[in-house]
Amino acid sequence: MSVDIEVTVSSLRAVARDVMAVALRSKSGQRLPGAQAGAHIELALPNGMVRHYSLVNATGQSDMDSYEVAVGWDAQSRGGSVWIHEKLKVGQTLRISAPRNLFEMQAQHRHVLLLAGGIGITPIYAMAQACAQEGRTFELWASARSASRLAYLEELKALAGEHLLCHFDDEQGGPINLAQRLQTQRWDAVYACGPAPMLDALTVATSHWASGSVRMERFKGVEVPVEGRQSFELVLQRAGLSTSVGAQESVLEAMERLGVDYPWSCREGICGTCEAPVLEGEIAHMDAVLSPDERAEQRRMMVCVSRCGGGRLVLDI
Ligand code: FES
Repeated sequence: MSVDIEVTVSSLRAVARDVMAVALRSKSGQRLPGAQAGAHIELALPNGMVRHYSLVNATGQSDMDSYEVAVGWDAQSRGGSVWIHEKLKVGQTLRISAPRNLFEMQAQHRHVLLLAGGIGITPIYAMAQACAQEGRTFELWASARSASRLAYLEELKALAGEHLLCHFDDEQGGPINLAQRLQTQRWDAVYACGPAPMLDALTVATSHWASGSVRMERFKGVEVPVEGRQSFELVLQRAGLSTSVGAQESVLEAMERLGVDYPWSCREGICGTCEAPVLEGEIAHMDAVLSPDERAEQRRMMVCVSRCGGGRLVLDI
């Protein structure tokens, strides 16, 4: 994704403890490209970092007046969230990408469960707004460590009413018990965004659900095991290049070593920017972007984390 849209920060406001909403307007005064709920933009920060954030207010408009993203303060931040919380000012100019959606609601899902944990509420709130506008029925389960940490709580109450279930760990004595609540599939699909333990628990709890009915977006990369990795041959067919990918090296790093300038953003397998078409080879998927069905097709991969399960990988690059 290229970050070629210039925007101005039009407002900054706290929407929960340690969560700041950032509103962005086009610097030129033109309207911004619209997007479906679940879309994200990339934001290029003056400190050289590029970070992606879900659009809270994307609900299927063809164009938009402004974008809103919400950024949680993260003590483990590699420079994105802390910079935004401490340095970003109203009036500042930033560069962003056009929206991209890897977490779109499918048209056939008319009755959905929306599940959010912590800052994962951002795409889920957009989905709840879209459901209300499109006439889809939904239940919204929102969890956070405490009520003060759940962003947009009042807006969620107003939007979802009796269909909102809030779970606060400090009041309930621990995280939400998904296994117990999801034994029966009562919805066409679940759309979930939140921390890895919540999504891992969701994966286990819904293992008996219909194929394609569990959709999730991670905001932190999955843990990629380092032990047991093998080196393999990498061929970039169109470029006419090949090399050996070392056991401790990613496919993306090997490509960069060959002098190939390939697009990337997160390098954690969560944004989809580095997706590459595969011509040959068994893919060991390690990303959090592709669905189980897309993984099974074995036709594309995220080269920042995914590897080859065999000895040779041929990419259509
Ligand atoms: S760079 Fe984000 S998925 Fe690879």
